[in-house]
Amino acid sequence: MKISLLGGTGDIAEGLVLRWTKAGHDIYIGSRSEEKATGIADGYNKRLFELGIESDIQGGVNADAAAASEVIVISLPYEYAVSTLEQIKSSLEDQIVISPVVPMSRVGKVFMYTTPAQGSAAQEIKEALPESVRLVSAYHNLPASELKEIDRVLDYDVVLCGDDDGAKEVVKNLTEEMENLRALDAGPLEASMMIEAITPLIVNLNVRYKPQHFSVKFV
Ligand SMILES: NC(=O)c1ccc[n+]([C@@H]2O[C@H](COP(=O)([O-])OP(=O)(O)OC[C@H]3O[C@@H](n4cnc5c(N)ncnc54)[C@H](OP(=O)(O)O)[C@@H]3O)[C@@H](O)[C@H]2O)c1
Repeated sequence: MKISLLGGTGDIAEGLVLRWTKAGHDIYIGSRSEEKATGIADGYNKRLFELGIESDIQGGVNADAAAASEVIVISLPYEYAVSTLEQIKSSLEDQIVISPVVPMSRVGKVFMYTTPAQGSAAQEIKEALPESVRLVSAYHNLPASELKEIDRVLDYDVVLCGDDDGAKEVVKNLTEEMENLRALDAGPLEASMMIEAITPLIVNLNVRYKPQHFSVKFV
């Protein structure tokens, strides 16, 4: 499957890029800068080659990345997600778009969820996308630092939600190709706020219990 990551040069993208390449997918890293994207793609190709994994990760500007793939991950900070999607709108048609985006801010000593007017980042992002795009909200609670260690088995649950069952099935399969991750369907996109809001809680626990990196598992 062809998968592009907008802001694919960043933290959460790294593990997704490496793990999905290892699983055999074609990956395209998007960025504001073509040079930055190709440089990071080359670095990941080199790293995978040294691990004996064949790869041909591509890099380019976000609009080209979006146009190149069937699945797009919005691996961008909340502050720039909607503005970036608006800039590349002509590259969006009927792809499956995955949002791991979490709006949060520091209030005193703790991080808090910052509720967007629409109810969640996913619902706000949905408004910025063409109707024909199928949005799935997922990966908010995965720690980037552990995801990027590609041989590390992640015994976590990934809660996802969205309004299109076919798109959720694709994201479920992509998730479970990453060893030991279990995808759980939490229902429609309206449920996204509950998943997104767990992330600042996890970040606060990570600060308090350093160097532990918590995630989510339902038992
Ligand atoms: N980090 C985590 O552990 C984690 C876990 C779960 C979910 N998330 C969510 O995943 C999303 C990405 O998080 P991250 O930690 O990967 O972010 P990040 O590394 O801070 O940033 C990702 C990319 O965003 C692009 N970017 C930065 N400023 C921008 C701007 N002004 N306009 C457009 N693009 C800009 C940059 O790409 P270029 O400079 O190449 O354009 C950057 O590499 C966030 O919404 C976060 O809430 C993160």
